[in-house]
Amino acid sequence: MNNKKTAKLKIGTKELSLPIITGSENEQAIDITSLRKETGYITLDPGYANTGSCKSGITFIDGEKGILQYRGYPIENLAGKTKFTDVAYLLLYGELPTPKNKLVFSKSLRIEANIHEDMKRFFDGFPLNAHPMATLSSMVTALSAFNPVLTDDEESINSTIIKILAKVKTIAAYSYRKYHGLPFIYPNPELNYVENFLHMMFSDSQDNFHAEEVLVEALDLLLILHADHEQNCSTSTVRMAGSSMSNIYGAISAGISALWGPLHGGANQAVLEMLKTIKKDNSDFKKYINLAKDKKSQFRLMGFGHRVYKNYDPRAKIIGKVAEKVLNKLNIDDPLLDIARQLEQAALEDEYFISRKLYPNVDFYSGIIYRAMGIPTNMFTVMFALGRLPGWLSHWKEMINSPDFRINRPRQIYTGQKIRKVK
Ligand code: CMC
Repeated sequence: MNNKKTAKLKIGTKELSLPIITGSENEQAIDITSLRKETGYITLDPGYANTGSCKSGITFIDGEKGILQYRGYPIENLAGKTKFTDVAYLLLYGELPTPKNKLVFSKSLRIEANIHEDMKRFFDGFPLNAHPMATLSSMVTALSAFNPVLTDDEESINSTIIKILAKVKTIAAYSYRKYHGLPFIYPNPELNYVENFLHMMFSDSQDNFHAEEVLVEALDLLLILHADHEQNCSTSTVRMAGSSMSNIYGAISAGISALWGPLHGGANQAVLEMLKTIKKDNSDFKKYINLAKDKKSQFRLMGFGHRVYKNYDPRAKIIGKVAEKVLNKLNIDDPLLDIARQLEQAALEDEYFISRKLYPNVDFYSGIIYRAMGIPTNMFTVMFALGRLPGWLSHWKEMINSPDFRINRPRQIYTGQKIRKVK
């Protein structure tokens, strides 16, 4: 949305009038599109903390107030009232599915769930202890060799998106099977998205795995809570890679690689490893609070802090409660949950964390639930990727259909050697 307000920029004697853009939730931005052309200057914003890279109608976050909405629906409202596949549909197409759309969408996801038989041989090339994220990102790129990359019109875009949503789930489960040296289990068309994923993870060739309802519901909810988060590192990577008109499979694979880092989706694995370390160290959580505050140490409290949230991450609030519920229902007494609660309480009362507005984020409690499901720690970031997939696909789709679409190509300030010659 544009309004008549402008910002004035004065550089020396030159004055430039820059339009102010207002979003639908009253977010404000100064549009600097003409800046370099008019003045020769660029802006410098390391880490892009002040830079809007696009206009987007998918997700709204107010980090100060702890608000997260998908297509206008608060996350708390979607959680428990919708299924992950409904939310995927909502993100992709802007509205929750009608009963008929729901049927068609879930049917196509079931039909597309298998991967080409030849692709299974690719898994043989990975060593047994390959990290499942390495397998996942490689296999998603490989999907483009086995599936047509059709993105010429809306219909082909949608069918490619369905293929990716359906097949990445299968690859994610197979990356787990490969890591454990287990045979692959075919998707079962009778099962819904989450049940099917758990079936491919945990069934054996003789016996179908029957997941407890509480686990299916918890996993569905976790996927919903991870489904989108506007211009985060991996989504921006998908947009960046996709902006060269690279194929969509490659762009999603780039997003998977960006997600893997411990400052982003890799934090869920890092949290669990941190909690295990603290447990081994006589559960001395105070020592680790002090270490996180010590600027000489490299240690950070994993699962704490966020670029955008300067308040409690609304996803962490829901996940913390679900973790408690799942563990109670399954009669699991996990000492790591106690340590996490103690860490949280100590941090929230500590001046260091209070003054920097550092709160638990989405990764702080999710691992406790995955652990209760029997999902190993190195699969946690794969679970995040599975959840974030509809968000990546929605942003890619929005980008290529946008009237503002251009290749993403930031500038820089060169600080290297001045011109010189070989003598
Ligand atoms: N433990 C200790 N200190 C921290 C932490 C932490 N987890 N996070 C931030 N700080 C401090 C940081 O040292 C800095 O202090 P000072 O002002 O004295 O230099 C201040 O808080 C601001 O931190 P920053 O690094 O400038 O913040 P950022 O916006 O660049 O980074 C972050 C955000 C999420 C990368 C960071 O908070 C972090 O490293 N957290 C731990 C990793 C983590 O949990 N990541 C998952 C993020 S949520 C999932 C997702 O969507 O990606």
